[in-house]
Amino acid sequence: MPKIKTIGILTSGGDSPGMNAAIRAVTRAAIANDMKVKAIYRGYDGLVNNEIKDFTTENVSNIIQRGGTILKTARSKEFTTEEGRRKAHDNMVANNIDALIVIGGNGSLTGARIFAEEYDVPCIGLPGTIDNDLNGTDLTIGYDTTLNTIMECVDKIRDTANSHERIFFVEVMGRDAGFLAQNSAIAAGAEAAIIPEDSTGADQLEMFIGHGIRKSKKSCIVLVSESPKCGAMYYAERVKREYPEYDVRVSILGHLQRGGSPSAQDRILASRLGVGAIQALTEGQRNVMIGIRNDEIVYVPFSNAVKSDKPLKKELINALAVLST
Ligand code: F6P
Repeated sequence: MPKIKTIGILTSGGDSPGMNAAIRAVTRAAIANDMKVKAIYRGYDGLVNNEIKDFTTENVSNIIQRGGTILKTARSKEFTTEEGRRKAHDNMVANNIDALIVIGGNGSLTGARIFAEEYDVPCIGLPGTIDNDLNGTDLTIGYDTTLNTIMECVDKIRDTANSHERIFFVEVMGRDAGFLAQNSAIAAGAEAAIIPEDSTGADQLEMFIGHGIRKSKKSCIVLVSESPKCGAMYYAERVKREYPEYDVRVSILGHLQRGGSPSAQDRILASRLGVGAIQALTEGQRNVMIGIRNDEIVYVPFSNAVKSDKPLKKELINALAVLST
């Protein structure tokens, strides 16, 4: 395989805290391995529209602590078309980019997989998403920071929930995955979590009203995974109708969950995965996501990483059930 002289790096999809730490790590590890770095702005749109700039080590100084992404990000519609990907490939060639590093979530790594297959270019992915929904890695960059953000919000909500003796449904992000809701519920000592992975088929509202609220308690907090049909509003409306004795409120945390300075864990994870990405390229790896499993760096083929069925341990569901009784 010809030696990789120049890499292109981009961030894509929803931003996540720690993406900057990953950009820094990839850039510095590439330079340490005698590679040139080209920064691609606004995700795949930047590749399609040739928004590409040379990066030196100075470009990534003083960013490890910053949330968001200095490269900007987008969910590119054009890159989903053959014509868009053709333009992207032309620009890669014009900029002498031999390999692409993509930091992003499910959709972004799916894009990388298709592009790599179509044009036979080496692509390496880093799992950058708050949702923690990529397969083959225990953690994704941004997930820990977001968990902490949600936990701090719920701590605050609990003060007012207690004072007014209210039920609060707190809706959190996660796309189709319940990792954020389940684990922030455990971390914040919430009474229940309503998540998409709960496959018991039971009515989750009935379950938590039946088991989750102690007779001695009038206030409680339920974390709810976002969902177009059964989000926090849906459950609050039902409580109002079916249990009018409870005073109920909703808090939808929204995009504040994606912001903020990354936690130490996310900075370390992003740094390790960034160095791992360049190491993978030097070993001749291509079309894999760099993940972490049992504290070891692993290479996960894109097709496995983007499967939408990352298991959520049943033990977490049991733990919350036990602890909230
Ligand atoms: O994938 C990250 C994520 O924050 C999801 O949790 C959420 O569903 C989605 O992105 C929100 O996207 P947007 O910022 O485009 O509204």
